[in-house]
Amino acid sequence: MRRYLITGSNRGIGFELTRQLLAQGHQVFATCRTPTQSDALQQLATQHNGQLMLIPLDVTNPASIAEAHTILSKQTDVLDVLINNAGVLNDGDSIETIQAEVMMGNFAINTIAPAMIVQRFLGLLKYGSHPLIVNLSSSFASIGLKSEEMPFRYSYSTSKAALNMLSKTLAIELKPLGITVVALHPGWVRTDLGGPDARLAPSESVEGILQVIEKLSLDDSGTYLTWRGSEVPW
Ligand SMILES: NC(=O)c1ccc[n+]([C@@H]2O[C@H](COP(=O)([O-])OP(=O)(O)OC[C@H]3O[C@@H](n4cnc5c(N)ncnc54)[C@H](OP(=O)(O)O)[C@@H]3O)[C@@H](O)[C@H]2O)c1
Repeated sequence: MRRYLITGSNRGIGFELTRQLLAQGHQVFATCRTPTQSDALQQLATQHNGQLMLIPLDVTNPASIAEAHTILSKQTDVLDVLINNAGVLNDGDSIETIQAEVMMGNFAINTIAPAMIVQRFLGLLKYGSHPLIVNLSSSFASIGLKSEEMPFRYSYSTSKAALNMLSKTLAIELKPLGITVVALHPGWVRTDLGGPDARLAPSESVEGILQVIEKLSLDDSGTYLTWRGSEVPW
């Protein structure tokens, strides 16, 4: 049994991570902006009484991060795994249509929030068993894979590429503490963000992600992996 903290757990990949981790017997601190408005999470909480705790968390709001930390710290003094899953894809898909506010919104959620969440919850992770931070990245973040066949996705790609650098830097700084950090591409998944044409069901992606996570050790820290465990070129 490991203790997981997940952001953006009310829908998509975050919800499926919560569902499968509970089914595997782990303890999950599932966060989202308004847990009371998520019938699906409330239902899981009823089914897994004592194993699942729902915590309000808007990842871009410093007061909300502090409050979530206070709530969590009353329940546990240890976290084993933090999954920075909450993310957004809002884009003008051309240099002629991108807007500064939109770019800043993507960076706030996809890049800055994971950094602030790690900062706040590091004290709990330090006492974890083989502690791990998983940052949900994307193949769109890969500079090596960028080609004319891909949509430009200026705001999303740049904010996730910055998340990759955050992951690598955290991996180096936190290695002496025994904390593993990876950037992980979940595949193209049928969620609100991935759209209806995506190749993978959330269940398939998350099954892969959890198998990859299970095998990670400190030697893997600083890698950029797919949901199948293969390395993505930076
Ligand atoms: N789906 C794909 O094909 C794909 C591919 C590559 C990478 N990813 C990455 O995987 C992660 C999950 O994506 P998904 O497909 O599951 O997306 P999704 O279905 O659109 O869900 C996004 C989640 O992020 C949450 N979120 C957004 N802004 C937030 C905020 N300020 N505070 C707290 N939560 C916030 C949303 O909560 P609300 O309901 O409150 O908005 C929702 O729970 C993202 O980081 C995404 O970039 C997805």
